[in-house]
Amino acid sequence: MKLSHSMKSSHCLLAALLTIFSVSASADVATAQKIADKYAAAAKAIDPTYAGPSAEEGKVFFNREVIQFKGDVNAPGKAIACASCHTANPADAGKHIVTGKLIKPLSPHINKKRFQSTRDVEKNFTKHCNEVVGSDCSPQEKANYIAYLLTEKAPSKK
Ligand code: HEC
Repeated sequence: MKLSHSMKSSHCLLAALLTIFSVSASADVATAQKIADKYAAAAKAIDPTYAGPSAEEGKVFFNREVIQFKGDVNAPGKAIACASCHTANPADAGKHIVTGKLIKPLSPHINKKRFQSTRDVEKNFTKHCNEVVGSDCSPQEKANYIAYLLTEKAPSKK
């Protein structure tokens, strides 16, 4: 009896330590994952056949250049992609194509401040998707996008 009790409490202690460790080591990445999961759940509600976030599709979306329409058919804007400002590697810092300002890396593995607040993320998505694609991105595109960013862990060698 005594033995099993002490075994049980040491097991609990270990579990508690593991929990503390994993939370402090990767709260940032876990939160980003949770936000991706939320978008995936929303995507599935819209389309029950949605199979879950695809990092491959997220990567294609990230690099896809679209022509910005500025309201004049005779003078369409230039082709830009998310990568135009965020660079082709989301683990690298980016540069705003208009203001030239530095943009901290988007990958939650590199920049612990990324994808931590559902509200901020949604605000940024809406803003940038409208700027680039001309409309907000779908929950599916957002889930894929974050899934892709979560695969990028290595800044380019300079
Ligand atoms: C014209 C430049 C530009 C383009 C193009 C651009 N972004 Fe951004 N993006 C920024 C800047 C600047 C920030 C950073 C603001 C900051 O540092 O918090 C940012 C941050 C973000 C964030 C914030 C993440 C967070 O932690 O809240 C998301 C999401 C995002 N961009 C999505 C996109 C998507 C999706 C596209 C393509 C459809 C895109 N961006 C294209 C400039 C751009």
